[in-house]
Amino acid sequence: MPDVGSKCRVCKQPAIIDLPRHNANFCAEHFLELCRRQVVKAIDQFDMLTKDDRILVAVSGGKDSLAVWDMLLELGYHADGLYIGLGIGDYSDISGDYARAFAAARGLKLIEIKLRDEYGYDIPTAARATRRVPCSACGLSKRHLFDKAALDGGYTVLVTGHNLDDEAAVLLGNTLRWEIGYLARQLPVLPARDGLPKKVKPLVRLTERETAAWCVVRGIDYLVDECPMAAGNRHLGHKETLNAIEAQSPGSKAAFYLNFLERMAPLLAAHAEQERDALQTCNQCGAPSGGELCAFCRLVVTSSQHEPVPVELIMRGGRNRR
Ligand code: AMP
Ligand code: FES
Ligand code: ZN
Ligand code: ZN
Repeated sequence: MPDVGSKCRVCKQPAIIDLPRHNANFCAEHFLELCRRQVVKAIDQFDMLTKDDRILVAVSGGKDSLAVWDMLLELGYHADGLYIGLGIGDYSDISGDYARAFAAARGLKLIEIKLRDEYGYDIPTAARATRRVPCSACGLSKRHLFDKAALDGGYTVLVTGHNLDDEAAVLLGNTLRWEIGYLARQLPVLPARDGLPKKVKPLVRLTERETAAWCVVRGIDYLVDECPMAAGNRHLGHKETLNAIEAQSPGSKAAFYLNFLERMAPLLAAHAEQERDALQTCNQCGAPSGGELCAFCRLVVTSSQHEPVPVELIMRGGRNRR
């Protein structure tokens, strides 16, 4: 919250939000303006979208994905939504309700895919069956189904709601381990190629506090709760670390990530190219793969044979936590 009596930098009316990294306060109207500018800048800077694109937005029912869908529509893009039912107990049921309500209120098309119905497993079961952290099965399933839904539906671009906090946290994790392969691929745009649609992240210049504020100002209802299986994961720890640095030195988070894109990513481009060339095609589903069967098809085999595991068991068990 801004200090009592603080004024918007642009119009000098009472401010509703303070943004230390911009060293300024903003009223509702000029805050929205700033968000739009940041999104337009990301889209232009990285050639993310054109008005001719057929856009599919992956929506989780959370603030980021609903904000990006709203912003793209406001900016004049035509975009449908994709919701994946991950089967994470009540959390998934409620997140689906938010995504559906947003689409229904605006007459938008929302494609829905339920893991349990279509592939015979859910994320808690996959976590237990693979004996790995839930986020690993979750991320793998989402990435595969985003690609498949976009290609099946004839969309030219798949949009996700990843924000600056998400990207900076992943960057910190990859940098701490010097994961060169991951660093080379950590871009806000991944171009289309055989078997994969173009993928873009228009919110990389906005923090999660800003996307939440966008939803509040715009009157968008979103699921506030975090995924119940996220507690204790490395990603959240890195976000806290970056927030502590940001509090000491406002602007550090944006500089860390955006300067990586500008100065470091070009040096890694050749590496990313080599990795792409080395991929084969999955015998089962035709997706690009490191071996004969892709990681998703292997996950489906392992998880669909396992008896269903309720999310509460995974949360209590601790064994699948990082
Ligand atoms: P997360 O991996 O949960 O940090 O989410 C990153 C992005 O993936 C979100 O901003 C959405 O665009 C997308 N996403 C996450 N969960 C879902 C879901 N259940 N269905 C569709 N898209 C999702
Ligand atoms: Fe990782 Fe939900 S499974 S945050
Ligand atoms: Zn103003
Ligand atoms: Zn496959």
